[in-house]
Amino acid sequence: MTRSRLFCLLVVLVSVFMILFIIVYWDNVGTANFNIHASFSKSLPARLSEGQPTFVPTLENDVVSDVDEFLDSFLSLGTTKGFLQSTKTEKLQLRGSSSLEEIVRGYDWSTKTKLDDGVLDQEVQEERKLILRNFCANSSFNFPTKERSFDDIPNRELDHLIVDDRHGIIYCYVPKVACTNWKRAMIVLSESLLDKNGIPYQDPLQIPREDVHNSSSHLTFNKFWRRYGKFSKHMMKIKLKKYTKFIFVRDPFVRLISAFRSKFELENEDFYRSFAVPILTRYSNRTNVPTSVGEAFSSGTKPSFSQFIQYLLDEKTEEQRPFNEHWRQINRLCHPCQINYDFIGKLESLDEDAALLLRQLNLDSLFQFPPSYRNKTASSWEEDWFSKIPLSWRQKLYKLYEADFVLFGYPKPHNLFRV
Ligand SMILES: *[C@@H]1O[C@H](CO)[C@@H](O)[C@H](O)[C@H]1NC(C)=O
Ligand SMILES: *[C@@H]1O[C@H](CO)[C@@H](O)[C@H](O)[C@H]1NC(C)=O
Ligand SMILES: *[C@@H]1O[C@H](CO)[C@@H](O)[C@H](O)[C@H]1NC(C)=O
Ligand SMILES: *[C@@H]1O[C@H](CO)[C@@H](O)[C@H](O)[C@H]1NC(C)=O
Repeated sequence: MTRSRLFCLLVVLVSVFMILFIIVYWDNVGTANFNIHASFSKSLPARLSEGQPTFVPTLENDVVSDVDEFLDSFLSLGTTKGFLQSTKTEKLQLRGSSSLEEIVRGYDWSTKTKLDDGVLDQEVQEERKLILRNFCANSSFNFPTKERSFDDIPNRELDHLIVDDRHGIIYCYVPKVACTNWKRAMIVLSESLLDKNGIPYQDPLQIPREDVHNSSSHLTFNKFWRRYGKFSKHMMKIKLKKYTKFIFVRDPFVRLISAFRSKFELENEDFYRSFAVPILTRYSNRTNVPTSVGEAFSSGTKPSFSQFIQYLLDEKTEEQRPFNEHWRQINRLCHPCQINYDFIGKLESLDEDAALLLRQLNLDSLFQFPPSYRNKTASSWEEDWFSKIPLSWRQKLYKLYEADFVLFGYPKPHNLFRV
């Protein structure tokens, strides 16, 4: 009796084991075979093999070529001559083709930058990185998601990291921080988008604005899963280790004002429907909120800045869906405590920072970042925007964005907190 039961148990266990074995086996066969790809091992450069795994499973042909491309880009780092030949030619006639939004935001590629090299300061970079590292390591400074490891970041939250394998560059884009221009640059650098003749764009200005912001124009980390399957995090980590990673940040409150102005003060059908309608419905006393932006604007219906802040502070907002990228905290977009950025640029010093970054990437002779409009944000201007916001809301709003202030070295705007 007990013996036959034991036997049954054994049969069941063996069957379960066999099934698991088959699943695992099929999974491996289905997604990868573990041969070392000959050309891969041959082309493995010495500096990569040090401390790196010496084999990478080949998944499918396009992955293999991608791995080769990936290695090529190490070998060719710094040898970027020949790309962007059009830089020197007359191309900087943007006014006619740029969108209203770009003009309002002052993105203007039409004037030449005159830079004083003496202003460029590597020490500033070291200081920014030191501040960031210290606060990431400081256990009495906390914010949500601070302690999770890179492996624990969900794939969908890696969608802001744009990879350029040709030059070995990773850029984490932050909306409202000159990201349109850096995305244009990344498309040209990585040749990730073809024009209608099938040739990669060489002139950042020729890329239509909607293509610049279309995610299919960029190779982002969240797409690695489709290419590399379960090795995707591994590939990300290799690239994070080898590539130059940069980010541009901005004073968090000024970024919010900028987001509000470009998404709610200009006619924008998508933002009107997705965000202005819920804001007006929840926080204004209107019974029937217009359904289209045209109707709303002609009747003078727009959310106020204060209703926008109310929306950000309302717990219901984040319960329904994560903050839109235009007002999502930079630390949630770019994971600065999990990714060791090599370069932290600031919008407040965009011209100097962009020039220094391009020099460090050896791209300065080929590529010039368009100068920013410098309406140095006076603190009085910020005060005006916040003048109708109750003090208690300002304090809550600071709490909500505190990590961005602290990590990127922006002092608390004390002028907004005087009673
Ligand atoms: C750590 O963070 C806390 C809270 O922000 C701060 O008061 C403290 O000075 C920091 N410590 C160091 C060593 O930076
Ligand atoms: C983004 O680009 C892809 C491929 O070119 C295209 O199929 C898609 O319609 C574009 N999406 C938008 C929103 O324009
Ligand atoms: C909205 O209406 C309610 C009652 O109808 C009133 O108590 C409240 O003060 C109004 N709010 C605003 C912002 O006008
Ligand atoms: C520039 O700043 C001034 C105040 O410093 C402000 O009145 C003006 O509206 C700003 N212009 C733009 C385009 O933001």
